[in-house]
Amino acid sequence: MRGIRVVLIQNDGVARTIDNAAIGVSLMEVGRAEGVDGILGDCGGGCSCATCHVYVDAEWQQRVGPPDDVEIATLDMVSHLQQSNSRLCCQIVLTPELDGLKVTVAPAE
Ligand code: FES
Repeated sequence: MRGIRVVLIQNDGVARTIDNAAIGVSLMEVGRAEGVDGILGDCGGGCSCATCHVYVDAEWQQRVGPPDDVEIATLDMVSHLQQSNSRLCCQIVLTPELDGLKVTVAPAE
């Protein structure tokens, strides 16, 4: 199956475009595999470390959806929380509908 395009803006302003991100994996896994700066994924996607914190671009928020209760509890620990669009990208599983998804990597803790 053809992958999708995702764009992650690093803290240095560099936009990392990944053109063939696999459907069914998390945005964290894709970002880490591509060496996107600031996507560490220390807990391996367990929603407990918040080292995969991103801000979802306004035009994508509705399609990505809100965090669940477990993710909200983990997001509560971060110091750069943006109520409107913070997400842990290990909890964003890529689907065909997310083709073109754009996020900005949150500053390091
Ligand atoms: S990888 Fe740890 S919370 Fe996302």
